[in-house]
Amino acid sequence: MKSSLALMVFILPFICAQVPHWGPCPEPAVQPAFNLKQFMGRWFEIAKLPAQFEKGRCIETNFTLKTDKSIRVVSSEILKGELRKIEGTGVTEDLKNPAKLGISYSYVLPYSPYWILATDYVNSALVYSCTDVLRLFHVDFAWILGRTRTLPDSTIDRAKEIFANNNIDVTRMIASKQLGCDKTL
Ligand SMILES: *[C@@H]1O[C@H](CO)[C@@H](O)[C@H](O)[C@H]1NC(C)=O
Repeated sequence: MKSSLALMVFILPFICAQVPHWGPCPEPAVQPAFNLKQFMGRWFEIAKLPAQFEKGRCIETNFTLKTDKSIRVVSSEILKGELRKIEGTGVTEDLKNPAKLGISYSYVLPYSPYWILATDYVNSALVYSCTDVLRLFHVDFAWILGRTRTLPDSTIDRAKEIFANNNIDVTRMIASKQLGCDKTL
């Protein structure tokens, strides 16, 4: 009962928000020798998949390593003129694959995959999240993150190429709005 409710409340909106892909999740390569410490700090959302309507702008996430090795994740956006913040927890899900993180924004929710496919730590990062649903199909999310609010087109094109080479369809990826963010609200 409880789990079917969770399915309806948390999974259905994601499924409805996009076309699900048949079959299991792809298994993309992740950043080799991932350095969690260097990944910490402030990242701006440059582009994302899927397009979400009624989403805020100026989306950014601040990652901080906690003393227990978990990660404090604070995401913020401006929605309808208001700054909104949401705090979550990140963990290294697989010690053999340190670039495979999991993030949860509520203790009642399981960790969602948060895989760093590639990053140079100082300019950009490619993040992928995929969940199998009933082993029949999968829903996925992908983000291009930047240390600055904008990235050169060449960096974005290269990022999309890396996703595509890992069988992740990013043709419908859309640019995030990062304009007028640094003014006082
Ligand atoms: C990120 O979080 C850390 C720790 O909470 C804080 O000291 C820092 O000011 C934050 N940075 C931004 C840009 O919000």
